[in-house]
Amino acid sequence: MKLVFATNNKHKLQEVRDIVGNRVEVLSLSDIGCCDDIPETADTLQGNALIKARHICGKYGLDCFADDTGLEVEALGGAPGVYSARYAGEECDSEANMRKLLENLTGKSNRNAQFRTVIALIIDGKEMLFDGIVKGTIATEKKGDSGFGYDPIFIPEGHTESFAQMSGEMKNSMSHRFRATQQLGDYLKENYG
Ligand code: IMP
Repeated sequence: MKLVFATNNKHKLQEVRDIVGNRVEVLSLSDIGCCDDIPETADTLQGNALIKARHICGKYGLDCFADDTGLEVEALGGAPGVYSARYAGEECDSEANMRKLLENLTGKSNRNAQFRTVIALIIDGKEMLFDGIVKGTIATEKKGDSGFGYDPIFIPEGHTESFAQMSGEMKNSMSHRFRATQQLGDYLKENYG
């Protein structure tokens, strides 16, 4: 079976291919000649994942899936959430996003947070959603320099190191994306294996 993953991110593609194995051929957007800049205009992660998957399914008639990820901070009512990539503004980078988050948490004792990845799958017109969560806390300052995004300020539950202080293998074995992808893999195995 063939499935389009609505991304060109090589790390995400490799992670998904490792999890779903040989049963499924996972194609990227460039594999199907899609250069569209799909607007992510929804106000939820589910909404954005569905927009991307529906775009591919509608335009190319192919079975596909898409993901969207956000960092949800309890004391900020779930922000930055779906706006994680552009928390400090459209043109901002991870440094500015982390700075804004740390500023907004100044003086707050509740530093609970979670990363959430939602995957929307469309096969034969049927839509399915998978949710992967890793709980943790927001550190008071940046620690480590591996990874990307908010990794230097996120400490996963049960650990003292931030994601950016861990090896890539260690982070990936517990990450939100890994957990959502595993669910997708289990579903495909059960229903199409
Ligand atoms: P995307 O949906 O995978 O593009 O993720 C949206 C945004 O969430 C990214 O731009 C990052 O700021 C943040 N993010 C997603 N995954 C991670 C992660 O594993 N570590 C740190 N930040 C992440």
